[in-house]
Amino acid sequence: MLMLKSHFKTNNRGHLVIGGIDAVELADKFGTPLYVVDEQRVREKYRNFHKAFSDRWSNVLVCYALKANSNLAVVRVLQSEGAGADVSSENELRIAIDAGIPGENIVFNGNHKTQREMELAITNGVLINVDNFQELEAVDKIASQLGKRARIGFRVNPDVKTPTHPYIATGLRESKFGFDVASGQALKAYQLAAKMKNVEVVGIHAHIGSQLLDIAPFEEEAEKLMALVAEIKERLNISILFVDFGGGIGVPYKPEDRELQPWMVGERVVKVVKRFVGEKDLSEPMLIFEPGRYLVADAGVLLARVGYVKERPNGPIWISVDAGMNALIRPALYGAYHHIELANKVNQKNDVSINVAGPLCESGDFLGKERKLPKAEQGDLAVIFDVGAYGLAMSSQHTAQPRPAMVLVNSGEAEVIRRRETFEDLTRLDRIPGWLK
Ligand code: LLP
Repeated sequence: MLMLKSHFKTNNRGHLVIGGIDAVELADKFGTPLYVVDEQRVREKYRNFHKAFSDRWSNVLVCYALKANSNLAVVRVLQSEGAGADVSSENELRIAIDAGIPGENIVFNGNHKTQREMELAITNGVLINVDNFQELEAVDKIASQLGKRARIGFRVNPDVKTPTHPYIATGLRESKFGFDVASGQALKAYQLAAKMKNVEVVGIHAHIGSQLLDIAPFEEEAEKLMALVAEIKERLNISILFVDFGGGIGVPYKPEDRELQPWMVGERVVKVVKRFVGEKDLSEPMLIFEPGRYLVADAGVLLARVGYVKERPNGPIWISVDAGMNALIRPALYGAYHHIELANKVNQKNDVSINVAGPLCESGDFLGKERKLPKAEQGDLAVIFDVGAYGLAMSSQHTAQPRPAMVLVNSGEAEVIRRRETFEDLTRLDRIPGWLK
C-alpha cells in the first residue's frame, strides 16, 4: 500500500507530487540523484514545534540544529520563521550568521571547540555551551584577550537512558558529552565559572539523544536539569536564565512508526519547569530547544533513477539506482530505514519484493532490502523519503561520485539551492607534488 505523509500528493498521471510539482518533471529538469526540499513543510513543522512550547511558556527560543541540513536556503527559510540556531562548527556558525540569525539567538555546542570557533562565537555574542573544564579555562582566556565577556552555559550529562541507536544516544553517563551531574562535576563547573572575570554564566544545556519517539526521556531530562538549576540557585546563588533541552524529537520513518507530537513533550516538560519555578522560587528562564530532524527530515526526498533491474533464478530481485551510500549514508551507517516508492508508479500495486542498491562497489551500498514496490523497469524514478535531515549533510564523494544537487520547491515553484558537483569540483583541491610532475 502506498504510504504518503500529508504534504505529498499524487496526480492523474500516477506520479508523486511534492510542493505542487510532479516529481518526474523535477527529475527530468534537474537530473538525478536529486534532493528536493518542500519549503512549506519546513515552515509547517517549525510553527508546530514552536507553538507546542510557546502555547505553554512565554519565553521560548527554537534553535534549529544546523547539522541536520546546513544549506543556506534551508537555514534562511527557518530564519524567516524566527528560528535561532544550534551550531557545532565554525562554518555552521558562519552559515547561521550569513542567513541573518542574530548572535544572541545562536547556541554553540560540541566537545571540541577550537580557538577560532570560540573567538567568532564570543565576538558575536553567541551562547557557548561549555563541555569540559579545560574548555572553560580556554573560554575565559579568549574572552579576556578579546576584552569581552563570554555568555556561557554548561553541557551537562544527566544520565538519561534513551531507546535509540547507540551512535546517537548522547545523554548516557558514559557518553563523551558534558559534565557529569551525579558526581557533582556539573555543580563544580558553575562554582568555578562564578569566580571567572570574563565569563557570564547564564545557561544550562543537555541533549540526550536523537530520533526519540517516547516522551519519558524528555520528562526525566527536564526533572534532572531543573533539579540542578534549583541546586545552583540554592548553593551558589546563580540564576540560570536559559535552560536548553537540546534536540531529539524523532520522526516516523517506517509506516508503522508512531509519531511523537511536540505538544506532548511541551506539555510534560513545561509542567516540570513550572513546578520547579514555583516550588523553588526560581526566576522564569527562557526555554531553548534544538530540533534538527523534526523540522526538516520529512520535508526532504531523494529522487534516484533506476538504471538496472537484475533478476536471479532464486531471487532476490535487485534494482540499482543512481544514488547510494555516497548520497545517503544512513542505511549503511545505522541500518536506518528510509521508505522507498516508485515516483512514476504511485498508483500501481506494490506487490514485488525488491532490494534497492546504489551504484558503489561495496555490498553495504544499498538503500533498502526486501521492499514492496511495483514491478520495476529501467528508467523508473525511485523516491527515498525522510532524507531532509542528515541526508545531503552526511553525503560523501566516495568513488568520486559528485554530491547530488538540492532543489527547493514551494507551491509549484522550484529552484536549485545547491548545484550538483562536477568533475572540476571533485578534483579542484588535489595537487600533484613536484617530484611527480
Ligand atoms: N543539539 C545537539 C547538541 C545535538 O548533538 C543534536 C544532534 C541536535 C541538537 C539535533 O538533534 P535532532 O533534533 O536532529 O535529533 N546523524 C544522525 C543524527 C546525529 C544527531 C547528533 N546530534 C542520524 O542521521 O540519525
